[in-house]
Amino acid sequence: MGRLDGKRILVTGAATGIGRATAIRVASEGARVAVFDVEDVRASATLSAIEEDGGDARYWHVDVTAEAGVSAAVDEAAHWMGGGIDVLLHLAGILKGAGLDITEVDDTVWDPVIDVNVKGSYLVSKHAARYMKEQRSGVIVLTSSVAGVLGGSSSYAYGASKGGSHGLAMTLDSHLSRFGIRVHDVLPGALDTPLKVAATEESLRNTGDREAYEHTMANLSPPGGVAAVMAFLASDDAAYVRGSIRTI
Ligand SMILES: NC(=O)c1ccc[n+]([C@@H]2O[C@H](COP(=O)([O-])OP(=O)(O)OC[C@H]3O[C@@H](n4cnc5c(N)ncnc54)[C@H](O)[C@@H]3O)[C@@H](O)[C@H]2O)c1
Repeated sequence: MGRLDGKRILVTGAATGIGRATAIRVASEGARVAVFDVEDVRASATLSAIEEDGGDARYWHVDVTAEAGVSAAVDEAAHWMGGGIDVLLHLAGILKGAGLDITEVDDTVWDPVIDVNVKGSYLVSKHAARYMKEQRSGVIVLTSSVAGVLGGSSSYAYGASKGGSHGLAMTLDSHLSRFGIRVHDVLPGALDTPLKVAATEESLRNTGDREAYEHTMANLSPPGGVAAVMAFLASDDAAYVRGSIRTI
């Protein structure tokens, strides 16, 4: 018996990084997993890893910023998983503008980051909630960041976007708990993923601060620890947990 046997779990952003580790982890604990991402080749590799381990997963190419696609894919995924969604683990996100001064930030940096990280969080939550409200049960986990809540982001747009997803999670929690829906946002620190490595390199290019680059690169943690937290939050073991969870 796995802890997540019978759970129908949607994981976004599962082609790489924390989302990939999370999809593999929850599948290994018995969940049926629907994967949304835009990186088809890497998402297929996630699916292969799950299937080789005896797990059950399917992939949909979904840009989380486009509502028609999100809505249709959520319907298809819910149908494939047996008519509902028990858990949304929303990991899709981007970071741009690392190391730019505020006077250098422009719309080509600001708009896509806010779009993917805030609008994407709203759209996947909205469409997963259609099922969870009907079921009168569910778990929604968004991914914010220490950077969006406590400060210190290398990117103005990213810090703002993660404050936005944190506020969204708190608002969802206050409105959806009466439907039996538990809502969290996880606030990771600095993890060894393609997003973080690319942002650290971008910051070096924009600031020239090699000491900061080397310090950050030497202190990245593997994403599996946060995947374990995601699997716990997806499980009934977390029934007494509420709100935001800060991690390494
Ligand atoms: N790595 C860290 O240190 C760190 C720290 C705090 C928060 N986070 C957050 O954790 C989440 C996962 O990040 P990661 O570090 O694993 O990054 P990552 O780049 O490895 O993974 C992000 C995934 O999101 C997907 N994605 C991007 N835009 C998308 C879109 N429009 N529609 C669908 N999928 C899209 C990417 O293809 C990728 O698979 C992000 O929200 C990130 O902001 C990461």
